[in-house]
Amino acid sequence: MAFSTAIKIAPSILSADFANFGAECRAIEAQGADWVHVDVMDGHFVPNLTFGPATCKAIRPHIQGVMDVHLMISPVDQYIDAYAAAGADVITAHLESGPHIHRTLQAIRNTGKKAGLAINPGSGIEQVEYLLDLVDLICVMTVNPGFGGQKFIHSQVDKVRSLRAMCGTRPIHIEIDGGVTVETAPLVAAAGADVLVAGSAVFSGGSVDNPAPYGENIRAIRRAAEAAVKGLV
Ligand code: DX5
Ligand code: ZN
Repeated sequence: MAFSTAIKIAPSILSADFANFGAECRAIEAQGADWVHVDVMDGHFVPNLTFGPATCKAIRPHIQGVMDVHLMISPVDQYIDAYAAAGADVITAHLESGPHIHRTLQAIRNTGKKAGLAINPGSGIEQVEYLLDLVDLICVMTVNPGFGGQKFIHSQVDKVRSLRAMCGTRPIHIEIDGGVTVETAPLVAAAGADVLVAGSAVFSGGSVDNPAPYGENIRAIRRAAEAAVKGLV
């Protein structure tokens, strides 16, 4: 997983057919997904429940590229090893998940996996400065976490710009999660984001039996983001 800031599209399987995860992962990768984003929710840190390490382990063989696991759980530390063993490539924990995020990021790094730090829309970025040497990815939440299909929160675009400046030359991915569409992708790409998570905007109109719309959606989001990076929009 060599570092690059090229635009990467990471479909969230939160919007996939839950009875068909393996086939859905194969379909989105065949249609051009760069990473597969897996949203883990505990019904406590966020008001929704999804899946645990056993599901991640089961879908791992169906993913050839990067399995990007977003842990919306609290506490988080005692589950890190299980997600690492399940085959995650990136494990992202929330800044807000507990009092010791520094320790959490150290624990993720200790598993040999890439460490991600997610930040809720209401959180500031002052603390991130002290965590920069422990993170491989910063996930800027552009919706309040818990559900797919919510509206993009525009105030977060400035946060992305500030974080990219704060990262300087460090090899840190900036990921956007929530409300990414053809309209919002250019805003965050121009501000310095390189990984775009998209659930509803990728899966809309397609299915395992009719996966071509997944590819059309992925290409449209990528085109819009890349044009913004080049300053074309
Ligand atoms: C929200 C999740 C997101 C979500 C994005 O808590 O972390 O990954 O699935 O969904 P869309 O793209 O539909 O906003
Ligand atoms: Zn997510």
